[in-house]
Amino acid sequence: MQTFKNFNYALFGNPINHSKSPLIHKLFKKQTHILHIYKAVNIPLNQFSLLVYNFFKNNLKGANVTAPFKEEAYFFSNKLTERAKIAHSVNTLKKIDNTTILGDNTDGIGLLSDLQRINFIKKGFSILIIGAGGAVKGILFSILSLNCTVYILNRTLSNAKRLVEQFSKYGNIYIFEKNNFKENYFNLVINAVSRNVVKEDFVPLSVLSDQTFFYDMNYDVVDTPFISWSAKIGSKLISNGIGMLVFQAAYSFLEWHNIFPKTDYIIDILNKKQS
Ligand SMILES: NC(=O)c1ccc[n+]([C@@H]2O[C@H](COP(=O)([O-])OP(=O)(O)OC[C@H]3O[C@@H](n4cnc5c(N)ncnc54)[C@H](OP(=O)(O)O)[C@@H]3O)[C@@H](O)[C@H]2O)c1
Repeated sequence: MQTFKNFNYALFGNPINHSKSPLIHKLFKKQTHILHIYKAVNIPLNQFSLLVYNFFKNNLKGANVTAPFKEEAYFFSNKLTERAKIAHSVNTLKKIDNTTILGDNTDGIGLLSDLQRINFIKKGFSILIIGAGGAVKGILFSILSLNCTVYILNRTLSNAKRLVEQFSKYGNIYIFEKNNFKENYFNLVINAVSRNVVKEDFVPLSVLSDQTFFYDMNYDVVDTPFISWSAKIGSKLISNGIGMLVFQAAYSFLEWHNIFPKTDYIIDILNKKQS
């Protein structure tokens, strides 16, 4: 059983043993000199609400939430930011007072900030998103807000359809099928499928061009299957998801402390550690 005496911010997930978030937050703390002691806590699958409630009753002031608890965190929160309401998913919790826990979702703004940093996105882009899980729920509103047209490709069609229904009121979003794609090519392909499951021929080459950007939200290894595939088909416009990870953490830090930490050198540190 964790005691919580030694930390006031946490990451809750299962599993969380390889998470880079504690390192990112250690670097934020060093940079800002704020009393911010952040620890990753593995939560048993059926105990999220009970344990998190107890943490907040004790020292905890804020927390990040990762898979598989983002939806549970949405229901756990008794106040929500607009973007968390739209996503139906929470990755950031903040104790407002003894009876109020605010739920936020910083995945979308985190991804958008990184795509803008590396010039991988512009207004009106045509974007293919592979995957329809919790992370995609978090990013769709930010992308649609830029007037981009989004196509979803997912193993389970019903999950993709559910997302299209949920988000079609915010912009142009469709299921991807080879014969419903009316544009010349995708400007950007985002991989949001859990790691290491990309297949060789999953996207037809006819919908790609040498101008297409490839972004993998995964970041656990240098050459994820998606990154290897993008390179193999000849692209040089490829990025992993480390920048997104650092930005979503920075926006959580902003929520907690009202300070937006510098991010670029932290992205460099994490990328160097990886290579
Ligand atoms: N860089 C960042 O800051 C950041 C932030 C959030 C998430 N992520 C990463 O994004 C990825 C997705 O996260 P998530 O929370 O959305 O996960 P999730 O809710 O578990 O969704 C997983 C997605 O992967 C698909 N999938 C799983 N196994 C598959 C297989 N064998 N073949 C084909 N598709 C498969 C699922 O399809 P079905 O619908 O068919 O099950 C679903 O679309 C994770 O790897 C996570 O680490 C990165």
